[in-house]
Amino acid sequence: MTYHTSTQERPIDIINVAALEEKVKVNMEPGAFGYLAGGAESEITLRANVTSFEHKKVLPRVLQNVENPDLRTSLFGIELSAPIIAAPIAAHGLVHEQAEKDTVQGVGAAGTIFSLSTYGNATVDEVAQASPETPKFFQLYMSKDDDFNHWILDKAVADGYKAIVLTADSTLGGYRESDIIHNFTFPLPMKNLAEWASKTAGNERGEGEGIAAIYAKAKQKLSLKDIKAIKDYTHLPVLVKGVQSADDIEDLIQAGADGIWVSNHGGRQLDGAPASFDNLEDIAKVVDKRVPIVFDSGVRRGQHIFKALASGADVVAIGRPMLWGLNLGGIQGVTDVFNHFKKELTIDMQLTGSQTVEDIKKAKLVDAK
Ligand SMILES: Cc1cc2nc3c(=O)[nH]c(=O)nc-3n(C[C@H](O)[C@H](O)[C@H](O)COP(=O)(O)O)c2cc1C
Repeated sequence: MTYHTSTQERPIDIINVAALEEKVKVNMEPGAFGYLAGGAESEITLRANVTSFEHKKVLPRVLQNVENPDLRTSLFGIELSAPIIAAPIAAHGLVHEQAEKDTVQGVGAAGTIFSLSTYGNATVDEVAQASPETPKFFQLYMSKDDDFNHWILDKAVADGYKAIVLTADSTLGGYRESDIIHNFTFPLPMKNLAEWASKTAGNERGEGEGIAAIYAKAKQKLSLKDIKAIKDYTHLPVLVKGVQSADDIEDLIQAGADGIWVSNHGGRQLDGAPASFDNLEDIAKVVDKRVPIVFDSGVRRGQHIFKALASGADVVAIGRPMLWGLNLGGIQGVTDVFNHFKKELTIDMQLTGSQTVEDIKKAKLVDAK
């Protein structure tokens, strides 16, 4: 069956990025939308990710001699227009015909980093060709088959991807009820898997399967040794994604992690886990600026970015709202979402007397009473 999705290429109206979800919902079939928007089990963690930002308040400051706040920063030496990057997300083809080929251009136009998922609907090469100048990270779901791991890492290196993101929180799929209710399976091939399957006469293409079945075929027994193995093989920085416990940090850094990506996968894995933001400060204390921290899960406002940076993150990653932009406006829609975050963050910076991103990091948040 042919899968029909958006072909829109146009600017989009944004009041706030969370409100875009409702506009996308009416464009999509319930199974595909549920896969994107849904979380695990009772979705307690999914909801808490957004509401937890209310646990801290931002303190206005006055007479701080600030005008035109400067959002620029850098990560691994890559210049960014703002402390906001793209989270890796599987299957952008569900929301737009051009899939990751559009997203990478939209993110590039916003002046920041695109992260490609192993389970994307465009290959490592296609994404690189769609936007050679956009800085890119490659997110690895490690396979049990090291030949696959080497083959795909070779491509990421050859195509100039700047870092490898090792996702560590998804050695099996969370219990996602929407996927079960709709019996959701991917209508399109995951093109990296499909390319490997055609090279090796395999049959793992992602198409026609649910995410839980796909995760089940990846490597479950991930260990600290995998960090060094990827580093030695690629000579690229390795970020470990899906970190939620401060107790994991020392081991990860000793094992060679070049960056810690604090995330609970947007509430899609362990329901009943704390909101990602609630774990950030404790993690940042242990990291103690030894390596950069990327933060995601629940970021819907410039204010959330401000609070994450003031709690120890160096940059935040945008997940679902980026897809809503892609669905509604293609390349321009993606750029518009990132620019909207920048607009809100600029207001927060001005009103808190923060001239630079470093000033945000020094800002004192107030505990909610
Ligand atoms: C539909 C969907 C697919 C995702 N696919 C991946 C993936 O392939 N690899 C990965 O590391 N994280 C994946 N994630 C998690 C995101 O990188 C990010 O952690 C999450 O979207 C943040 O939550 P938020 O979207 O609510 O802000 C996915 C998230 C969503 C919503």
